[in-house]
Amino acid sequence: MVIIKSPKEIEKIRRSNQIVAQILKILGSEIRPGIHTFYLNDLSEKLAVERNAVPAFKGYRGYPFALCASVNSVVVHGFPNKTPLKEGDIVSLDFGILFNGYYGDAATTVAVGRLSESARNLTEVTRESLYKGIDKALPDGRLSDISHAIQSHVESNGFSVVRKFVGHGIGSKLHEDPQIPNFGKPGTGVRLKAGMTLAIEPMVNEKGYEVEILEDGWTAVTKDGSLSAHFEHTIAVTENGPAVLSQLDGSI
Ligand code: MF3
Ligand code: CO
Repeated sequence: MVIIKSPKEIEKIRRSNQIVAQILKILGSEIRPGIHTFYLNDLSEKLAVERNAVPAFKGYRGYPFALCASVNSVVVHGFPNKTPLKEGDIVSLDFGILFNGYYGDAATTVAVGRLSESARNLTEVTRESLYKGIDKALPDGRLSDISHAIQSHVESNGFSVVRKFVGHGIGSKLHEDPQIPNFGKPGTGVRLKAGMTLAIEPMVNEKGYEVEILEDGWTAVTKDGSLSAHFEHTIAVTENGPAVLSQLDGSI
């Protein structure tokens, strides 16, 4: 069942997501060759606590860290570690918090120094695909209109959309209905309504869409070793169009 939020609840969800956005911005500004993602994990936790927020991922189904840090061929749920980042890497940072009863959840892919043209293109197309999806989050639209817009943009640029993981509703739980695939034909799935709050999160691979989970039970990598990028925003469906709650200025 998809929970419809009141305007007051949406404002609370916005506040939680603004905290996530602030923290992701700071983490992104720390990224350069030589720093490691374990440092970013500690920093993310400290920045959350300073804002009276609780990191949402640590302990969620046993996930051991506050931050997901997924480098190069890691798709999602990468464990922060002490390997120094190097020029040309891409690192996806996925972070969530609980604040005042509501969750925030967002992700971004950041360049370490200068990227190869293909890494830059993958990152840009993935970011664009998120906004193509967001553009379809309209009252009376259908859920798969979002999915289809993401998939079309990704595939027309020669990349592939990960099937194994999906976006999700969000609110007083981190994961609510509906599940939001990043692929599918348009015009199916639940009818979108003002008051739905959705975390839309395309994961895009440079080559094949297949992923494998490593022995730690979490780390998802591309099966063919190609690069992968991930962007996520929490949005609200409103009568005035989509409101991007996890974007710092609150609008597209
Ligand atoms: N943005 C991801 C999600 O929605 C991150 C979850 S990591 C987990 O599902 F550890 F919390 F599972
Ligand atoms: Co999410």
